[in-house]
Amino acid sequence: MADADEFEGAGDFARDVRAGLAQAQKVIPARWLYDRRGSEIFEAITDLADYYPTRTEVAILVDFAGDVADAVGPGRAVIEFGSGSSTKTPLLLRAVAPAAYVPVDISGAFLRASAGALAADFPGLAVHPVEGDFTRRFALPALGAPWLGFFPGSTIGNLTPAAAVDLLRGWGGLLGAGSWLLIGFDLAKDSGVLEAAYDDSEGVTAAFNLNLLARINRELAGTVRLSDFRHLALWNAAASRVEMHLEALRDTAFEAAGQRFSMRAGETIHTENSHKWTLDAVRLMGRAAGWTPVTSREDAQGWFSLQLWRRDAGGMQP
Ligand code: AVJ
Repeated sequence: MADADEFEGAGDFARDVRAGLAQAQKVIPARWLYDRRGSEIFEAITDLADYYPTRTEVAILVDFAGDVADAVGPGRAVIEFGSGSSTKTPLLLRAVAPAAYVPVDISGAFLRASAGALAADFPGLAVHPVEGDFTRRFALPALGAPWLGFFPGSTIGNLTPAAAVDLLRGWGGLLGAGSWLLIGFDLAKDSGVLEAAYDDSEGVTAAFNLNLLARINRELAGTVRLSDFRHLALWNAAASRVEMHLEALRDTAFEAAGQRFSMRAGETIHTENSHKWTLDAVRLMGRAAGWTPVTSREDAQGWFSLQLWRRDAGGMQP
């Protein structure tokens, strides 16, 4: 068995796996789904018929970008949190005529490839990629232009409501008074639609979830037998969220990051939450985080909302 100390340098991933698998309900934070392979599988998810959020949000953005541009004006520095492949970004950049673009993503290789492609499509636009975890503190490049934050995809839904408010409040401080935030929220809907979106008929979401175990084997000298696990997506009505788990199909044991773990048949590792909101809850969350919800656009089915929020200067209220 590999020694635990060997993985000190592997850093946060090893720490999170060791700590998360030691809990009664095993858990691994969702950010670790996005190594290069995971980011690629996620891109394939966004093209699936069962996965409605991406195409729904893109259609809203096509419709809404002009209003966003009118509100925020030209010359903004656009910062995209968790930019991934940046496929929605050109729609926004073409509309708002920004001074600069700052994609922030945890997958460095993926970030550089997509930032390069985007820079080629927008000659003259200053592109400053930042490799990092957008839920942690990071330094912004000093660009001298007012900010427009872009956080599409309902990625905010990975966080609990309390953590989401903290993150959005932090971004208000980071971007400052006079900044704007364009942010996507997936809305509560029929649980059958949700479960199909997170357990698609082509098995791509299952491959996305199971890649986390393959990543443990690759990066943390893991000995997990992937065939001992299956992907599980379930709607937690009380918490208004879809949960992804990896369920042990039989009693199983493995090493990871220098430690031995065992699981009983039916036991799960919780790997992701994807919260779904009402429009009232979305606006309340914005206000709780110090932003003013100014305007929004939804699709005709009311499945997804793109919200445009403004950060006003604080000050005395009557
Ligand atoms: C990228 C976090 C928005 O929660 O819908 C897709 C990730 N997980 N299918 C989502 C995901 C399973 C996705 N986000």
